[in-house]
Amino acid sequence: MDTLDAGPVGAVRIAPSILAADFGALASAVRLVDPQTDWVHVDVMDGHFVPNISIGPPVVHSLRPYSQRFFDCHLMISDPARYLEAFKKAGADGCTVHVEVGNTASLIADARALGLRVGLAANPDTPFDDVTPFLGDIDLLLLMTVFPGFGGQSFMPEVMDKVGLARKEIDATGLALDLEVDGGIDRVTAPVATRAGANVLVAGSAIFAHASPLDAAEAIREAALAGRR
Ligand code: DX5
Ligand code: ZN
Repeated sequence: MDTLDAGPVGAVRIAPSILAADFGALASAVRLVDPQTDWVHVDVMDGHFVPNISIGPPVVHSLRPYSQRFFDCHLMISDPARYLEAFKKAGADGCTVHVEVGNTASLIADARALGLRVGLAANPDTPFDDVTPFLGDIDLLLLMTVFPGFGGQSFMPEVMDKVGLARKEIDATGLALDLEVDGGIDRVTAPVATRAGANVLVAGSAIFAHASPLDAAEAIREAALAGRR
């Protein structure tokens, strides 16, 4: 399966996290928000790297026919090497692995060899220095604004210092790198994140727990654009 285009690097993009949607009606959830969103963010949890279990390749496969959006798969799992190929085959466009699981250079190479767009994620308390050696080899840096594992947590503003550092580094080096934030993003925190330098915004509960997910996505996009420097 061909990998879908992620769109222009650095553009503001809204990535709804289906973790917050009704798992019994995922196809209609992604279709509903499609006009106001850019990617589909798929949160994969293994009950080991994080204390929660969510979904895996079969769900990506089942959802694939219902969306032409870039599938941004966030692997919160201890052994991504074992599953990258299954995600690719299921229809993932990009896979993001956590730097905390280790083996990072090899995971990046594996994902690249499969034709995936490659992301690297860091938890809120992981220093920027831990990801800097890999910035030239990835397409997306995900700086978590909550500790991964659950939707509906509060945005951690203290991570914005790290987002600012990352933005400075990306701009100074001219790297073609998207800077994504994930956790507690809503219409209030979205402009805080874009002002600090993030350009891809994941939002779960602020979209899918809202009475009108489409309106919520539009409001987050407008707020994010307003925060852009
Ligand atoms: C957290 C996940 C997030 C989460 C975001 O472990 O990686 O993508 O679903 O959900 P909200 O937007 O509700 O914080
Ligand atoms: Zn996520």
